[in-house]
Amino acid sequence: MPHEPASGPACAICYDHEALLHAAHGLASRLGLPLLAPQDNGPVLRLAVTTDGLELRRVEMRPGQGVRIQWLGNRRLRQASAATEGLIRAVGARRGQRPTVLDATAGLGRDAALLAERGCVVWMAERSPVLAAMLADALERLDQSPDGAGLAAHLHLYPGDAIAFMRERAGPERPDVVYLDPMYPETGKAAKSRKDMQLLQQLLGTDPDPPGLLETALRTARQRVVVKRPRKAPALAGPEPSHRITGKSTRFDVYVLG
Ligand SMILES: C[S@@+](CC[C@H](N)C(=O)[O-])C[C@H]1O[C@@H](n2cnc3c(N)ncnc32)[C@H](O)[C@@H]1O
Repeated sequence: MPHEPASGPACAICYDHEALLHAAHGLASRLGLPLLAPQDNGPVLRLAVTTDGLELRRVEMRPGQGVRIQWLGNRRLRQASAATEGLIRAVGARRGQRPTVLDATAGLGRDAALLAERGCVVWMAERSPVLAAMLADALERLDQSPDGAGLAAHLHLYPGDAIAFMRERAGPERPDVVYLDPMYPETGKAAKSRKDMQLLQQLLGTDPDPPGLLETALRTARQRVVVKRPRKAPALAGPEPSHRITGKSTRFDVYVLG
């Protein structure tokens, strides 16, 4: 189900130079979005086909100023930080134990890649066709690179609604952990400085049904469900989390099962 807002296309496909026109054409027809030359009028958001992968940008941004999914050579993936350690602890990964994780709200795949880098096998579900196309492109590039194939082997993409994925995998293939990071209306200074989140919010708005996602996740995961929230936000509607891991700006609500 396409999830970008229904009032006309929220986004158009464009290309950085003529040699990429053919690829841009294919992407536009796969996603059912208009194809525009870089300066054409039309939707403000553009998914640009570039020689280094897909880039989501606003029409006034120059190439390179938008958001890309860059897993290869991304040093942040290997750096230890309090936020990363919080995520790793929240999913229950420890020495000798690497749970399989369904990242049911994959977005730009940053959290998924952090978990995969630490050895978890991660399924990424993303229902926005634009973001799913960016994830598929990044995954293909990673897989084709000699340095990235190891990480790529831990990452799998489901381009669609996570609830459908969980219904399909209700049996022995259930993931150990379901991880949720739904869109939250960001306000204040932090939001202004986060270009990636601003672009995502323009593309998607807020997620309509995080409590429904939590309910299905609680029925699907074998071991636990983890929900990422802004530090001071209320928990999602539903049962109380078993415990919380609170960091500087975010919090992980952990629902331990069984
Ligand atoms: C805040 S972003 C996630 C960011 C992500 N954790 C990262 O590290 O890049 C939330 C994403 O969840 C996706 N989403 C929300 N509900 C979903 C569902 N039911 N199935 C699949 N994707 C969903 C939205 O389209 C959006 O891209």
